[in-house]
Amino acid sequence: MARVVIVSNRVPIPNSRGPRAGGLAVALKDAVKKGGLWFGWSGRTTTETNGDAQIVRHDGVDYATIDLSESEYKKFYVGFANGTLWPLLHFRLGLIEFRREHLDGYRVVNDLFAQSLAKLLRPDDLIWVHDYHLIPLAAALRKLGVTNRIGFFLHIPFVPSSVFAALPRGDELMNDFCAYDVIGFQTVEHHRDFLDSLRRILRYPVDANGMILAPGRHVQSIVVPIGIDGVEFHKQAEQSVKSKNSRRLLDSLVGRHLMIGVDRLDYSKGLPNRFEAFNRLLTRFPEHKMNVSFLQIAAPSREDVTEYAALRPVLNRMAGDINGRHGAFDWVPLRYMSQGLARSTLAGFYRLARVGVVTPLRDGMNLVAHEYVAAQDPDNPGVLILSRFAGAAQYFEDALIVNPYDPDDIAEAMHEALLMPLDERTRRYQSMFERLRELTAESYCATFLHALENERATPAQIAPSEGHVLI
Ligand code: G6P
Repeated sequence: MARVVIVSNRVPIPNSRGPRAGGLAVALKDAVKKGGLWFGWSGRTTTETNGDAQIVRHDGVDYATIDLSESEYKKFYVGFANGTLWPLLHFRLGLIEFRREHLDGYRVVNDLFAQSLAKLLRPDDLIWVHDYHLIPLAAALRKLGVTNRIGFFLHIPFVPSSVFAALPRGDELMNDFCAYDVIGFQTVEHHRDFLDSLRRILRYPVDANGMILAPGRHVQSIVVPIGIDGVEFHKQAEQSVKSKNSRRLLDSLVGRHLMIGVDRLDYSKGLPNRFEAFNRLLTRFPEHKMNVSFLQIAAPSREDVTEYAALRPVLNRMAGDINGRHGAFDWVPLRYMSQGLARSTLAGFYRLARVGVVTPLRDGMNLVAHEYVAAQDPDNPGVLILSRFAGAAQYFEDALIVNPYDPDDIAEAMHEALLMPLDERTRRYQSMFERLRELTAESYCATFLHALENERATPAQIAPSEGHVLI
């Protein structure tokens, strides 16, 4: 097989002090294997950038990164990627701060990525680009004469065409998508919404298999849900639950039930509504008072973006209010940490938790939902509460599905989960674990790369009337 080149804004260099490996890094580790190349931003800003990548090799994989200037970082990462595209594609038009200079900076950085990456490419490399930071990358590479097969995967949602229409110069971005050979989405809904915008803006026909018939290029669009290695994570949780940290957590509970939420500190995660739901649980169902602790772990994220910085004091205040109102001298109902924890530590914590609370307002997939299910003890599994607007809800029908805009709905699901008898918990868990076995990181990578390698992918499964679904 040809060399696989992964391109993403963050590069998870092993043992580096950069951001912890997230779901993306974990899912892709098999795809790059030995001999592969992973290219992206170093996570650093410098006063002078020459665009030359620094390369380090770990375990046979080359990790190539470039620095950005402070101004590039502000326009590209803070400005357009996270100040415009992120809120747009999470249905939050009111939070968009569009500036033309940010869009220009976004394009400049994509050009910079292309120039630097082009020097490292071999003619038969398969290039796989990830996420909303890098939509114009293929077009920038094509301008430099790169003819390799290039795929793109969108990890976050896509929006209906009436929402996408709010993006100034959205037609340019749609054209950029058409420089790829394969474009992948997490769910049928995101895929359908994308094709809708494409048809309206560019008027290109799309065949029954999701092939976009753009002038001079056919672009295969597919649904390939990302997943985790559930069996491995299950084993990790079995070990982790015996660790010192898990024991400390268990001892601190003194027999109370644990509910857990783990997220980046991001407005798309619906944390204020979740806190309010917990407040309502304790108010409306006081039998849970003193009998449950809710641990919310929220890793700081994108703090240079105004809306992210604004969320922190909101949550601090809500956590203080809830504990002040409901707490007792020997019970802190809500344990709130605005710090991240290692994935290996979380594995044990998930296993200890009777309820996993995953209630984003919108989410591409949400791998915390997968990890929570994977970590459970099959003899005494916990219950997953899952937002209907997380991509994961399309795949885990046996979670307790809630509307994250309705704190009462979440509170009722918390109540139900805390009271749910073992046989129902087991039935729901078994069905979700089966799903987890199908939605692996390995199958995600293999399916996408298969589509990228082949001129026309062979559908593993075609969803009726919804286009081309590969899982
Ligand atoms: C989401 C995005 C990823 C991103 C991650 C962390 O999962 O889909 O592309 O890397 O958040 O965000 P950050 O801004 O720290 O890279």
